[in-house]
Amino acid sequence: MRRLPCAALGSLLAFGCGEDPPGQSSTFSRDQLLDPATCAECHPAQHAEWSGSMHAYAAEDPVFRAMNARGQRETGGALGDFCVGCHAPLAVREGLTTDGLNLDDVPAALRGVTCYFCHNVESVTGTHNAALKLANDTTMRGSIPDPLKSKAHRSKYSPLFDRRDPRSAELCGSCHDIVLPSPPAPAAVHLERTYLEWTEGLFSGKTGGELQTCNSCHMLPVPNSVIADVPGAGVRPARYTHDMVGVDLALTSFPRRAEQRQLTEQMLDVTLRSEICLAEVPGGFVLEVLLDNVGAGHRFPSGAAHDRRVFTEVIAYEGQTRLYQSGVVADGEPVVGHPDPELWLLREGVFKSDGSEAHMFWDVASTKNDCSDLSRPGCTIPGPVTIDKTHPDFYVTHVSRRFPQTQVAQGSPDRVTLRVRLRPVGLDVLDDLVASGDLAPAIRDEMQTLDLLPNRGLSEVSLEWTTASAQDPLYGFERTLPGLGVARCVSNARR
Ligand code: HEC
Ligand code: HEC
Ligand code: HEC
Ligand code: HEC
Ligand code: HEC
Repeated sequence: MRRLPCAALGSLLAFGCGEDPPGQSSTFSRDQLLDPATCAECHPAQHAEWSGSMHAYAAEDPVFRAMNARGQRETGGALGDFCVGCHAPLAVREGLTTDGLNLDDVPAALRGVTCYFCHNVESVTGTHNAALKLANDTTMRGSIPDPLKSKAHRSKYSPLFDRRDPRSAELCGSCHDIVLPSPPAPAAVHLERTYLEWTEGLFSGKTGGELQTCNSCHMLPVPNSVIADVPGAGVRPARYTHDMVGVDLALTSFPRRAEQRQLTEQMLDVTLRSEICLAEVPGGFVLEVLLDNVGAGHRFPSGAAHDRRVFTEVIAYEGQTRLYQSGVVADGEPVVGHPDPELWLLREGVFKSDGSEAHMFWDVASTKNDCSDLSRPGCTIPGPVTIDKTHPDFYVTHVSRRFPQTQVAQGSPDRVTLRVRLRPVGLDVLDDLVASGDLAPAIRDEMQTLDLLPNRGLSEVSLEWTTASAQDPLYGFERTLPGLGVARCVSNARR
């Protein structure tokens, strides 16, 4: 049964929805607690971080609004509250929107994934599509077992917030996995699977590794912190940051854009290890580039992997002369449909019922992410499943590509550079939204290309091969490449 909107209940009852009965109230009202601004008084750090996060941006994001508007139009409204159910969950549950087309009329405090929405979750009722039950009371749940009394709200420990408890991943996971509603989609495709990937991987603790939940990696500790700026609150061992960065960045004016970008880059920089191998063969040389997902607790890219565009730029030089290059893409130029036939692109492949490529959720009939099958687009790098080097699955995190793919490049390079580059949303997808009149061209031009630079500040590229670096005792090594013989290699992590 659908819960009645609170506004309706409020007029029937003498006291507000979810509030204590009259005379017993010792906290702010539920309405006050719905507003993140209320929390800022006592939790300024959490509030500031959250304000710049994608959780705060979720219903402002012009790409979200454009896609939802187009989806509603193309499905004749059949998408309903599917999209806003995750991007503005409180607005839906308060009965303020049914399709996300009126978000400008919804108070800003109820847009996005808000403080109250997360901290009022009482139970998780499923593994996808925001299957979360709110208590609708004035108790804030968290991971502190012995919270001080506060005049604002009651507090309660819940394992759903405790990084040491695998159930905390269920809270995040219920929104970070999407199963398409069918109809309007052609099939009930499990389109975004970050949580599923995590449950099958090393960090769920089920395959012999140490448990690391979503929070362990996405909410970093600030040791020895005060949780609430109120008299008498002592220092606790840690508080946990609420920036929750991934790959998306705000495309419009929004708080903390520079900080979000910096934190995103810091996380991306430690996500992949890479190798460049060079084999000298009759008539020239062949390169092999390997990417190893060492940092993500799931595939890379994950989640909205159908919109992500991760690609490699590889350039081989002899002196200043370029002997070979692939993936050299100008800013503003899409990578999908790029004339470079060897361009190595990592993203989830999504297809319509007729097998052609899809851009929009509601058209998706099937997906593909297997890097060994080159017959159709779609390749993302699996996350780790074991720490046992003798286990066959140890190497699932390694994917590699040869350049050139079938032929031999001419010459004898003395330097090869690799840049691993990422666009949070493909320009081909944005162009599609511009063409349908749903997205302003100026927003498309705000889309950045991020670089994964493990030695940021020291190097402009992800990895550089030189005759000398391939002989470095810590980073250089030799490897036999099938059909090519012994190659000289370099990695950006110690072997
Ligand atoms: C996406 C869900 C989510 C949102 C949105 C969110 N939080 Fe949290 N918050 C958490 C989780 C999870 C923890 C516990 C982290 C842990 O212990 O591992 C937490 C912890 C806290 C704590 C306990 C101390 C600390 O920092 O660890 C406070 C206070 C807090 N949040 C306040 C807020 C406020 C204020 C907002 C909005 C401005 C907010 N939260 C938004 C999930 C969320
Ligand atoms: C008037 C001050 C005040 C306001 C306003 C306030 N809090 Fe708190 N909050 C506290 C205090 C005090 C604690 C306990 C801190 C401690 O024990 O170190 C706390 C603790 C918490 C915790 C941890 C609970 C636990 O057991 O883990 C969460 C989560 C939290 N607050 C969320 C919020 C959210 C969300 C808002 C806004 C809706 C909010 N608070 C508004 C004072 C406040
Ligand atoms: C109510 C649903 C919901 C819950 C619960 C939720 N998220 Fe999110 N999360 C979202 C949405 C929606 C976005 C994307 C907003 C956008 O980019 O427009 C997002 C974005 C993110 C991002 C940034 C992704 C990127 O590519 O930039 C991270 C990281 C993240 N969430 C982690 C978490 C963690 C960790 C938790 C659990 C503590 C959590 N989320 C709980 C809905 C949710
Ligand atoms: C072992 C650490 C680790 C764990 C555990 C982990 N993540 Fe991540 N996550 C990463 C890294 C590293 C990245 C890639 C770097 C980045 O996006 O900035 C990432 C990226 C993401 C992204 C952006 C993905 C994309 O390509 O669009 C989301 C969303 C996300 N994580 C959510 C989650 C959720 C939800 C969980 C729990 C079910 C989780 N993560 C568990 C480390 C982790
Ligand atoms: C089950 C919750 C959920 C539903 C339903 C959902 N989203 Fe999202 N959305 C997310 C999360 C989580 C992210 C961040 C994923 C990541 O970074 O990997 C996100 C990110 C996005 C983004 C920003 C990044 C990108 O992919 O371009 C857009 C735009 C977006 N969603 C649009 C939509 C639209 C349109 C719908 C409905 C057709 C929708 N979403 C339905 C949870 C959801």
